[in-house]
Amino acid sequence: MSASHELDFGTSRFSILDPPSSGGMFALDAEYRADQAPQKVNLLMGAYRDDQGQPWQLSSVTEAKTRMNLHSCHHEYLPIHGNPVFLEAAREVLFGHEISEHGRDSIVSIQTISGTGANSLIAAFLNRHTMPSNIWLPDPTWMNHFDIWQAAAPGIKVQKYPYYDGLTRSFDFAGMMRILRSKSSEHDAILLHACAHNPTGLDPSEEQWEEIALFCKEKMLFVIFDSAYQGFASGDLNRDAWPVRHFFTHRPIEFAVCQSFSKNLGLYGERVGALHVVVSRETSLSASLTAPVQGHLVDLQRAMVSMPPLFGCRVATEILKSTNLQRLWKMDLLVMSERIKDMRKALYNALVRLKTPGTWEHITEQNGMFSYTGLSEDHVSRLRKEHHVYMLPTGRASICGLTAENIGYTAYAIHRVVVDELAVVEFDLHDQSRI
Ligand SMILES: Cc1ncc(COP(=O)(O)O)c(C=O)c1O
Repeated sequence: MSASHELDFGTSRFSILDPPSSGGMFALDAEYRADQAPQKVNLLMGAYRDDQGQPWQLSSVTEAKTRMNLHSCHHEYLPIHGNPVFLEAAREVLFGHEISEHGRDSIVSIQTISGTGANSLIAAFLNRHTMPSNIWLPDPTWMNHFDIWQAAAPGIKVQKYPYYDGLTRSFDFAGMMRILRSKSSEHDAILLHACAHNPTGLDPSEEQWEEIALFCKEKMLFVIFDSAYQGFASGDLNRDAWPVRHFFTHRPIEFAVCQSFSKNLGLYGERVGALHVVVSRETSLSASLTAPVQGHLVDLQRAMVSMPPLFGCRVATEILKSTNLQRLWKMDLLVMSERIKDMRKALYNALVRLKTPGTWEHITEQNGMFSYTGLSEDHVSRLRKEHHVYMLPTGRASICGLTAENIGYTAYAIHRVVVDELAVVEFDLHDQSRI
């Protein structure tokens, strides 16, 4: 008898479902949309907004769509592994021209449903074929990493390594290495954010990357780079790809990269991305490895989604294959990354001007879209309820949600919740001293 026959469904089989989780960021976003206060500020979503708080179409994307003859575009299926021209161009953006050319025989690339699809595909692949005991995720990390690994790789145990030191508000490199050295097993998998770590905005230095690479090689860990923000950390695609290229060139280890074009091309809803698996670079070996890796990835992708989507990949290919559009794209990246840096500086200056208790330098020292503000869950809750400023309960704020118009108000709201909390603490102490 099957398990379902042993369950008492009552009047509906769905009555056995546990209550769903609250919906996290998406529930808060719904609350923001329903909020009628005119001064409300949305610092939730990891999507770029311009200085009017509006979604921004990159000028390279506008130009690419003008050049494409949209009326006559067909809507046929892509091959399961995706568009080879797109994949070659995507590989070149990530690895650079030289590695892309010479490493052709050791990199397997497959087009995916953006970064999320690439993460899911590599998780499912490892779960089915190489079966590491553990996947090590940074703590904290993008929340979806936990759900992806649980859903796509139930046979692999999710473990966390420390990433953030709340006291110093800095990258906890020593803590990370200590735990990995003492707790990880040979051949485990480890996830590393290639740049602009979500949510902390803190990345390893080149020296730290080198130590991580050396350690991964010694322990034979399988590295998965999540590259969702190339170009957002420094404004420069090459500079942000340094860790990936360094691992390829200087350490003979096998690894994978989940590449997303959601953020850096602003193609969020079009789901443009790729998974690249780098196999052994020993020439006698690599040729015999790429075909089976590619074949099994294709089999999994067939079962999960069949073919990747076409339209966004067309837009991306138009840009990546044209020198002029690439130039325009690089300027777009500078526009976005510079505006984010300006907003970081403006928020820091406003908090300093208001003499908000605490230190706020970390806001300008962090990279990419997000700031791990250091605000507590209580601060965040009061920001939302009393001031209509929305960020994640962890204190993560999407800096893109700040504009010249709302930055003064946002800084004032942060100032108020910090000062009010201190007043409550002082009142309590004063009260206790009278007892
Ligand atoms: C770290 C990280 N990885 C991957 C993604 C995936 O995004 P997408 O599926 O839109 O490419 C995100 C999106 O927020 C992210 O922050």
